[in-house]
Amino acid sequence: MARALIGVIGGSGLYQMEGLSNTSEHWIETPFGLPSEAIVTGELHGVSVAFLARHGRGHRLIPSEVPYRANIHALRQLGVRYILSLSAVGSLREEVRPLDMLLPDQFIDLTRKRDNTFFGDGAVAHVSMADPICPQVADCLARAFGLTQGESTQGDQPITLHRGGSYVCIEGPQFSSRAESHWYRSMGASVIGMTNMPEAKLAREAQIAYATLAMATDYDCWHPREAAVTAEVAIANLQQNAARAQRIAAKAIRLLGEEKPRSPAHTALASGLVTPLEVMP
Ligand code: ADE
Repeated sequence: MARALIGVIGGSGLYQMEGLSNTSEHWIETPFGLPSEAIVTGELHGVSVAFLARHGRGHRLIPSEVPYRANIHALRQLGVRYILSLSAVGSLREEVRPLDMLLPDQFIDLTRKRDNTFFGDGAVAHVSMADPICPQVADCLARAFGLTQGESTQGDQPITLHRGGSYVCIEGPQFSSRAESHWYRSMGASVIGMTNMPEAKLAREAQIAYATLAMATDYDCWHPREAAVTAEVAIANLQQNAARAQRIAAKAIRLLGEEKPRSPAHTALASGLVTPLEVMP
């Protein structure tokens, strides 16, 4: 079986990872079925990487259909210790403009019909989600973003990276109503998406450090002067940013590969396990 230190989960518009060498594809069986897609393993800057297209390569899965448990279990089987989650989001803040990027440090989980734990059936654990994002991974993404700012690539507009903020995760697949959008703003959320929960919870249970690079594609529907989001606009903006997201991820992988593992997520079960169990590989 191939091994990988870093997992990259590509969301809408990100169905492959540029620059991977020595690649091979793996359909990995898990107790929770197959992952969204064959996982591509390879090397980037000498670091072993596993790439997974969250919605499948042809974008076949709505957010509620993504097999989150199988995805995280499969990455874990490959030995993944860090996950970079590249995710399209709507912006709930004026200052986070479409095409800007944001590194959330919190999540609000409003999903309703997703299997959100590896535990149960006699095996009990309550891991901490107080700080769901790994600061080590988020720092590498921030430094990587800084490195790409100096590169002048044709067609790239200057964009801002926002550090911190809450990502509210809705069930979807419909976008929100205006009342909901205002409500999420009143909760203090900065961005809205449909996929990072329960992904981040499951990563924590699997003791994998997790961070999200959120790419704003729209102002959802709260903004008094901007049109309400449509899938067409969100995808068009995402496509503009996909190449940049790939460059940021590639640089973050190099930076992370140079670091010593020191994420609190790696020992999440030490304080969370109530009954001993053998669910994770
Ligand atoms: N992904 C991109 N834009 C979004 C929005 N406005 N709401 C939920 N998910 C999104």
